[in-house]
Amino acid sequence: MPVQKLAIGNDHTAVSLKQEIKAHLEGRGIEVVDVGTNETASFPYPVSAYKVARMVADGAVDGGVLICGTGIGMSLAANKVHGIRACACSEPYSARLTKQHNNANVLCFGARVIGPEMAKMIVDAWLDAEYEGGRHQKRVEMITEIEQTQSLAAAREG
Ligand code: RB5
Repeated sequence: MPVQKLAIGNDHTAVSLKQEIKAHLEGRGIEVVDVGTNETASFPYPVSAYKVARMVADGAVDGGVLICGTGIGMSLAANKVHGIRACACSEPYSARLTKQHNNANVLCFGARVIGPEMAKMIVDAWLDAEYEGGRHQKRVEMITEIEQTQSLAAAREG
């Protein structure tokens, strides 16, 4: 099913990249809920990360895009919300695979790492890919098991 609605968030390092990516997403016909900042004054990335992650986990949107300086702080914070699989990507290959294999529901990248054209390619690669399921499903379920139980049965066996 094509993505229809995304949440986007950013910190102070990524105001102009967020605006460019938001326009790119809207150009693809996607409704975008912008929970980030439009000010260059220091803005803590966990605030945007939590807002986007919450919306994704609650099913209010089909996925999320988070942009900070590196994309790393955003991914760390978003992944603390149960049900979130957030990945920081700096090139399109990883962005495609993170959907196909990891079923990532939040995409992160860094405004201090990549430029706007690379960012658009990364976003498109993630949006155009589909989760493959199959052999990947058990592994994704293991991630959820760790998240929900702080344990992993398969790691105790053998
Ligand atoms: C802000 O200086 C910077 O730490 C933030 O944008 C991000 O890169 C954190 O991971």
